[in-house]
Parts: sequence; structure tokens; C-alpha cells
Amino acid sequence: MSDIAAIMQLAPVIPVLTVEHVADAQPLAEALVAGGLRALEITLRTPAALDVIRAMKDVEGAVVGAGTILAPKHLDAAFQAGARFIVSPGLTERIAEEAGVAGVPLLPGVATATEVMRGLDLGLTHFKFFPAEQAGGASMLKAFAGPFAAARFCPTGGVSPGNAETYLALPNVLCVGGSWIATPELIAAGAWTEITARARAAAALR
Ligand code: 3PG
Repeated sequence: MSDIAAIMQLAPVIPVLTVEHVADAQPLAEALVAGGLRALEITLRTPAALDVIRAMKDVEGAVVGAGTILAPKHLDAAFQAGARFIVSPGLTERIAEEAGVAGVPLLPGVATATEVMRGLDLGLTHFKFFPAEQAGGASMLKAFAGPFAAARFCPTGGVSPGNAETYLALPNVLCVGGSWIATPELIAAGAWTEITARARAAAALR
């Protein structure tokens, strides 16, 4: 799956996962896939993150990506670990170039019209809208639809079961991202049944 648009359309929600212990990786991925969520974003915010990607990448049905990519060297490390897509909170030319060289789908963050234009200028059309709630929420994305007809978004940051459907109702939103499906607390507790239930509810949105 080499296309970020296809990855964004695997399910209405991409869970954003911060995983402390590699032992949790496989049961977590299995719990999410069982609930119908296949694209999984592992944030590079813990020392275990790259090992978590390695441990999850062979879980059947999972398409494991890396988030919190702040520099090309993070992208390379994640790609080597087996990440099949890359998410960044922002957009830099160096990261866009590196993703192109590696041939890995990229979902870079934007929050303003100028940032969307910079992305379009680099040949990108699919963006994370981050931080979604703080940057203007669904009404901001509605306003982006006029000038940026080709752009598609994954709002992330402050998205919850209470507002996800408002975002998903927008034609320029392909999916949303969020940490509510598998919070660090649920993961630490090994609450796989609860995580599957949350994933199932998220997969049924839209
Ligand atoms: C993040 O990168 O932390 C994501 O934006 C998740 O945000 P959330 O915790 O508000 O869902």
C-alpha cells in the first residue's frame, strides 16, 4: 500500500498510539485490528517506539505507521523499522524530500492556508490538520474546501467521540486521528477488550 489516500481510507479513525513497552505491541495491534481499525500510528515519543513498530508490522491486517517524525533521521529510522507510512505534526521540505526518496507515504501536518499552499507546492495533497481543535476545528476545514479543492485532511488533536462525526461529515476529511481509542492508561492496563470495543465504535463512525 504505497498511497497515503488509500491508507487514510482504511477506516474512519487512525489511532494515535504512545506505547511504553514492546510487550504490549502485538496484543494492542491485534485488539485494534479486531475492532476494525487497520492504520495505526505509533508515535516516536518513547524509547520503545521503533521496537514497537517492528513488533506490530507483521500483525495480520495492520498497516503500521510512525508519527511524531520531526526530522529526516526519524523518518529513516522508522522506515527501516518497517513503518509503512509517516506522520509529522508539521511540514518541512527536508521531510517531504526524504519521504519521496524512501518512497514512503507521508501525512504531514498543516494548520494554516499558507502551510497547505506550501504542501501543494511540494506536490502533496493529503495532510494531517494539527492541532485540529486548537487550529480552528471543523469550521476551519470547511473554509479550506473553497480554495483548496484538491486537498484532503486527517484532523488530529482534540478529536474525540464527541466531535469526530462533525469532522467526518466534511467532504475534504478522509479520516480523523486520535488517542482516545487506546490511551496510555488503557495500554498500561492491558485493557485489550475495552480497546477493541472503542475501536469497533470508531470504525462504525461516518
Ligand atoms: C498527537 O499527536 O498527540 C495527536 O494529535 C493526538 O491528539 P489527541 O491526544 O488530542 O487525540
